[in-house]
Amino acid sequence: MTREEIYTRFEELDKRASLGGGVDKIEKQHAQGKMTARERIDMLLDKGTFYELDKLVNHRCTDFGMDKKQIPGDGMVTGYGKIDGRPVFVYAYDFTAHGGSLSETNAAKIVKVQQMALKTGAPVIALNDSGGARIQEGVNSLAGYASIFYQNTIASGVIPQISAILGPCAGGACYSPALTDFIFMVQEQSNMFITGPDVVKTVTNEEVTKEELGGAQTHSSKSGVTHFMCKSEEETLMSIRELLSFLPSNNMEDAPITPCSDDIHRTVEALQTVIPEDPNQPYDIKDIIEPVLDDQYFFEVMPHFAKNVVIGFGRLGGRSVGIVANQPAYLAGVLDIDASDKAARFVRFCDCFNIPLITFEDVPGFLPGTVQEHNGIIRHGAKIVYAYAEATVPKVTLITRKAYGGAYIVMSSKPTGADVNLAYPQAEIAVMGAEGAVNILYRKAGAEEKKEIIGQYEEKFSNPYRAAERGLIDEVIMPRDTRYKLIQALEMCHNKNQSNPPKKHGNMPL
Ligand code: HXC
Repeated sequence: MTREEIYTRFEELDKRASLGGGVDKIEKQHAQGKMTARERIDMLLDKGTFYELDKLVNHRCTDFGMDKKQIPGDGMVTGYGKIDGRPVFVYAYDFTAHGGSLSETNAAKIVKVQQMALKTGAPVIALNDSGGARIQEGVNSLAGYASIFYQNTIASGVIPQISAILGPCAGGACYSPALTDFIFMVQEQSNMFITGPDVVKTVTNEEVTKEELGGAQTHSSKSGVTHFMCKSEEETLMSIRELLSFLPSNNMEDAPITPCSDDIHRTVEALQTVIPEDPNQPYDIKDIIEPVLDDQYFFEVMPHFAKNVVIGFGRLGGRSVGIVANQPAYLAGVLDIDASDKAARFVRFCDCFNIPLITFEDVPGFLPGTVQEHNGIIRHGAKIVYAYAEATVPKVTLITRKAYGGAYIVMSSKPTGADVNLAYPQAEIAVMGAEGAVNILYRKAGAEEKKEIIGQYEEKFSNPYRAAERGLIDEVIMPRDTRYKLIQALEMCHNKNQSNPPKKHGNMPL
């Protein structure tokens, strides 16, 4: 072969690999409003930074005529690049080639990327769009999934792992995203389910559409499987970039510091009147969270699920913080099973990746009732206290109003290891509300007498001063000063160096 022929052969092979399943399949993908794997990667990464690996890998299956169906790359695009100048690894299922189905060989491509990311301490982003296990390969494909799940688990807490679901994701394939830290879905384009509508109909006789069963809306509001629901693929990819801007590349680093032009001493006069005078009136906790953060910007996570707890990221003085807050505007901010799961997992994520936690607390208690008890509120509620207590990152809590009973304790109270506990003058810290307490202690008292004792109880306990006398509250602050007080607390904790006793791992209630 001449040199020219050698180069031409390579260029042709490379071009063929770049086209995945071919022009027709790409057109079909576009006609469904979906981008191809390479288009997605190009949009996700900093321009021109993608370095593709294993572009010429092919499968070795010979069953069911597969030896005649060779597509270089085998339906998977893997490699690395940069986001905001920082290295990330990425793998994208290419639906145009064998429906993006998982084979023994393309699973090995994924594992290679996962291992490189773990070795070099960089996040992994998975772009899912796949028909699931490659049916022609049988158990070889299943073993491929297993090795991906294994790497997901080993990398958990070491590097951030993010999954975008951009098409179908069915069966056991759902468990790789479920093992990662954050899942993004696109409205009316992506699905996740263990079994599709046909199997559901056969087994339970339920009639359900794909979207109802496992669409973005379902998983972001009902199941809590997904953390972000986006309107388009573009929005998804841009949101992944934004999420990463709050995170360090691995558990040995601090999150990146963003130059802060927002005055750290800025007072917020409007906070003086956010808490209603009537303690039973709701208010939106985001009216406190947003104004105190840098540039008043809050990046909310899971906004549609268990709305009685609000979680997300922001920055204070340029540094990333994780926010956990009770939401009095939804179910009075009560803690239930879903809210407990939502808060606890987020606390653990922040602790894995050295992101300080700011807790805004206004909680009347745990939700009573047979539904909650029978579904294990004890087990689920215990997750919050476990997650906060084992977290060694800086932990600052601000009690804005109610802090009652067990719910007070679990929301990062001082004796569970919080570094700083602050309270507004409106704070009420007690075993329970005045009316409930008096109904138990003075069951037989008449209405007039009860009213009088309720007044006494409120006078004594419906304030932050008892707790402040005991040092359980470090400082009672004016709402307008919240921003600087939180920044001061974080600055004080910046060099905090705490570790828990050596152990294989704890036995968290699950
Ligand atoms: C091999 C597959 C495939 C698969 C799709 N294809 N899924 N090939 N294995 N799992 C191929 C099709 O044969 C077709 O090939 C091409 O991909 C595009 O598929 P279409 O059906 O034409 O596309 P569409 O109409 O958009 O439908 C997409 C789909 C459907 C809904 C995903 O293909 C489908 O239902 N696939 C099977 C899904 C499934 O049951 N997977 C197994 C799940 S269980 P050609 O050659 O025509 O282009 C599982 C277990 C994992 O994954 C366990 C892990 C522990």
